[in-house]
Amino acid sequence: MSVIAELFELLWVDYTAMTPQAERVSALLQARGERLINDHIALRTFAHDSVDIEVLDRVFVDAGYEPIESYEFKDKKLVACHYEHERPEMPKVFISALLLDECSPQLRDTAHNLLKQLPAGLQADWRFPCSGRPWSLEYASYQDLLAESQYAAWLAAFGFRANHFTVAVHEMKTVSSLAQLNDVLLAEGFVLNAQGGLIKGSPEVGLEQSSTMADDVEVEFADGRFSIPSCYYEFAFRHRLADGELYQGFVADSARHLFESTAGRGEAKSS
Ligand code: NI
Repeated sequence: MSVIAELFELLWVDYTAMTPQAERVSALLQARGERLINDHIALRTFAHDSVDIEVLDRVFVDAGYEPIESYEFKDKKLVACHYEHERPEMPKVFISALLLDECSPQLRDTAHNLLKQLPAGLQADWRFPCSGRPWSLEYASYQDLLAESQYAAWLAAFGFRANHFTVAVHEMKTVSSLAQLNDVLLAEGFVLNAQGGLIKGSPEVGLEQSSTMADDVEVEFADGRFSIPSCYYEFAFRHRLADGELYQGFVADSARHLFESTAGRGEAKSS
C-alpha cells in the first residue's frame, strides 16, 4: 500500500472511531448497493509556523497533491486551501487554519501553550495529519475556547485528524439528488444539521452539501473525561457548470456553514 493510501486508511479508522455514525451511514449506503467514493476530507490546524497549512500538507504534496484554490472566511477567522491529485479518484483534501493573530489574546495564549507541548519531530512524521491531540488540555480551557470559537475548541480537544470525510453523492447510483439522500438518512433516524437549511449551496454555484450533527464522544482532559461533540459526516453533490465541467471547488458560503455544524445536538450555535 502506498504511503498516501495508508494515511487515508489511518484517517478513516481514526475518524470512524470518533464518529461511529459515519460507519453506520456507510454500512447503510453499501447495503443499498452503493460503492462509496470520498469527495474530500477536511483537516484543521492553527495558522502558526510550527503547524501551518504548508506543514500539514507536506505528506499530501509529496504524494502528488497540488494546491488548487485558497479561501478566506473572515467572520470565522479562517483561511483554507483545497488540494487535488492528478488521479481523479483520489479525494480532494481541504485544509483550513485558524488565524490566531485575529483571535483574542486569551485564545492566542491558550493555543501557544498547546503548541509548546508539541513533541519534537511530530511534523516530520508522515502520520502527522492523523496524530491526534499531542497536548494536554483542561476542560475549562476547552470551554473558554468554545465560547469564542467552536473551531479552536474542536482543534484543541481533538488535535490533528480528519475533521470530516465527505461522500460524493453525485457518484451514487441509488439517489439522484442530495435531497433524496437526506430523506434516506432521515428515514433511518440520522440527525442532519438543519441550521441554515438541510442543504447548503445550490446547483447554480456548483456544489450542494449537507451533513449529520456531530456525535458526542468522551474525551480525556487533564482533569477528567468529558463528553463533547466530535465530528460530522458530510455529503456533497457536485453539479456541472455552464462549461459542462463538474464544479470542483468549495463554495465559500457552503463551507462557512459547515464550519458551524460541529456543535452538538442540544448545544447553542455560535451564529
Ligand atoms: Ni467539507
